[in-house]
Amino acid sequence: MNVLIIGSGGREHALAWKIAASPLLTKLYAAPGNPGIAGEAELVPISPDDHGAIVDFSRERSIDLVVVGPEAPLVAGLGDRLRDAGIRVFGGSAAAARLEGSKGFTKDLCARYGIPTAAYGRFSDVAAAKAYVREKGAPIVVKADGLAAGKGVTVAMSLEEALSAVDACFDGSFGAAGAEVVVEEFLEGEEASFFCLCDGATALPFGSAQDHKRVGDGDTGPNTGGMGAYSPAPVMTPEMVERTMKEIVGPTMRGMADLGCPFSGVLFAGLMISEAGPKLIEYNVRFGDPECQVLMMRLKDDILVLMLAAADGQLAHMSVRWRDEAALTVVLAARGYPGTPEKGSVIRGVDAAASGGVEVFHAGTALKDGNLVAAGGRVLNVTATGRTVAEAQAKAYAAVDRIDWPGGFCRRDIGWRAVEREKAGA
Ligand code: AMP
Ligand code: GLY
Repeated sequence: MNVLIIGSGGREHALAWKIAASPLLTKLYAAPGNPGIAGEAELVPISPDDHGAIVDFSRERSIDLVVVGPEAPLVAGLGDRLRDAGIRVFGGSAAAARLEGSKGFTKDLCARYGIPTAAYGRFSDVAAAKAYVREKGAPIVVKADGLAAGKGVTVAMSLEEALSAVDACFDGSFGAAGAEVVVEEFLEGEEASFFCLCDGATALPFGSAQDHKRVGDGDTGPNTGGMGAYSPAPVMTPEMVERTMKEIVGPTMRGMADLGCPFSGVLFAGLMISEAGPKLIEYNVRFGDPECQVLMMRLKDDILVLMLAAADGQLAHMSVRWRDEAALTVVLAARGYPGTPEKGSVIRGVDAAASGGVEVFHAGTALKDGNLVAAGGRVLNVTATGRTVAEAQAKAYAAVDRIDWPGGFCRRDIGWRAVEREKAGA
């Protein structure tokens, strides 16, 4: 079977690594991929935005499955384009990708189907948005409606901060994504990332993880795409998974089918867990990055079999098995991230770090004059497993310390919440 992966991040490297282990695979391609993915797949210089070229390539090379990693091509309709051309795809339609592409769409779906989420208002007018912010008071959360590369959300602790976030949205800081604004209630609790594989009708729970969004140790500093993750998330107990399926994912699947856009691919629910139960913060229509890296390390089953079942509407017959181990990944980022990362610094020692069961997934890397260099913000994901999160953490940081990269940095406390729990329980 020939498979094409779309994307070039750590998430796609982890998917390529896992797909490459499938006995069903004949040939793996990645467009455009990265130097790490090149170890698993043949790289094809096609942009994820060039849907016509992706369809042509898939036909020429008899691709049996296209796996779409990031959200932007899905929101832009790549899934529809491939399906219309008769090519099998793991990833949803543009109409279904509104779950990530429009926060207002998702909030309205929640309201209609009684899905627990933060109370909210939708605004396309600056005065009305500010009046709502003043009425509710801080803390409060201001979000650009559309895709803003993870930068459109302000968790405002003061009224002034909230009002200037409203201004930032409407003055074009987030482009078209900010033409509409969602203002919502500040939720308290513990965050978890929860995943389901979906085939339009069935949603199959596919594990949990906890991300670390802030750039600095102790969850300080600005938000990032994610500085590290571990799986499973202890807060997602079997009872919490059951409630999430019943109260959040189930009604979402039914709602999307009712609206004529049944959901397929990966449904990634960003949850806030409190004593009252799970609440939906947001949906994504793809795997999390770096959450995918830890899920792939723990997955016992053949990911290709599961993706094919999702694409073919056969998930009702499937189950998922996980290794009885924790996995943890540490993101190494280029200095300057999440602002302007410094590019071009040389990275050494990656092969030495990737030994003894540790995997180093590449994100923003490039090859220059025979050297591996930084080419983006988040650059490497050092990923290990262990009997406990503490053990996985120790292995991951030992491997991080074998990497010689003065131009990079990482958080030193990935997994702290779970490690503290483990200590308390020991
Ligand atoms: P998002 O880009 O929607 O994932 O939001 C980024 C981060 O902002 C989330 O991971 C949460 O940490 C935080 N956040 C978003 N919405 C809320 C909310 N209603 N209450 C508290 N925190 C939130
Ligand atoms: N790590 C969070 C995300 O992928 O959105």
